Amino acid sequence: MASIGAVTRVLLGKNVANKVAAANTGFIKFYSTAPAYENIKIDVVGAKKNVALIQLNRPKALNALCGPLFVELGQAVRDFDADDKVAAIVITGNEKAFAAGADIKEMQNNTYSENQKKGFLKDWEDISNCGKPIIAAVNGFALGGGCELAMLCDIIYAGEKAKFGQPEINIGTIPGAGGTQRLPRYVGKSKAMEIVLTGNFIDAAEAERMGLVSRVFPVDKLLEETIKLAEKIGTHSPLIVKMAKAAVNQAYETTLKSGLLFEKSYFYGTFATADRKEGMSAFVEKRPPNFKNE
Ligand code: CAA
Repeated sequence: MASIGAVTRVLLGKNVANKVAAANTGFIKFYSTAPAYENIKIDVVGAKKNVALIQLNRPKALNALCGPLFVELGQAVRDFDADDKVAAIVITGNEKAFAAGADIKEMQNNTYSENQKKGFLKDWEDISNCGKPIIAAVNGFALGGGCELAMLCDIIYAGEKAKFGQPEINIGTIPGAGGTQRLPRYVGKSKAMEIVLTGNFIDAAEAERMGLVSRVFPVDKLLEETIKLAEKIGTHSPLIVKMAKAAVNQAYETTLKSGLLFEKSYFYGTFATADRKEGMSAFVEKRPPNFKNE
């Protein structure tokens, strides 16, 4: 599969969305009223049509993350998070760029007081509030805010030519959407310092060695492999997947003791769900489980 176009029916605007929804009754209901996105494209893909695909779509600006793009991305993530038919979300860019950072031209004339008053970059929190797994499929540049967006996701897969970096230092600023906090948690202090203080880029192989990226694929296989991963996650109980994600994320928020307590309460909590009962019954009865998200 060479491009996103090969696996997606891309929705380019309200009219197109309405036509697609009308023509395809299997299509998720909210697409009939989907907003007319200008900076992203969305679709639902996979054999069971349960993988949400969001493509950042400002190719001329290397997918620089301008304010309107982030408002749209936040809206799409919230919609997919609320849709029971969606098991996992994939965020991708194009072969040249996942995203080359926050939009430098847009923020060039910002002042400190404007940043404070408007809560510059506040929309980014929508991504970390999502309960469903989000997987970043990174081809090309993932720089500055682009690298930070990938790190906001739960899993990062990369194409062989991906380049990661936090080059804000080159333009007289520092990472502002988690780079100084999440990067050390991924790769440790010394490597994070080196990346943040030099502005140097690292390639996909190095990113995988460092633990920033889970797996690296040929450029033209990346999206297909990422969708397969999302589909695999989609075979499990969505309720339990959500609990597992929350428990792993807790490891980055707290002490080991508190994290273990959180884990235990969630583990015990799974015993209050029908899906835990179904999963264990299916194992004992040697049959596939039929999870109900309950
Ligand atoms: N913001 C706005 N526009 C950007 C951009 C960005 N972050 N990155 C690239 N572009 C634009 C360029 O201005 C150019 O537009 P024009 O054709 O209109 O001039 C277009 O995308 C193509 O870029 P280049 O011609 O520079 O492409 P290249 O292949 O020669 O270089 C690059 C690619 C190395 C990624 C280079 O574009 C670059 O260094 N980009 C900036 C990377 C950066 O500094 N990112 C951090 C931003 S700050 C941030 O993200 C803060 C935060 O933490 C939230």
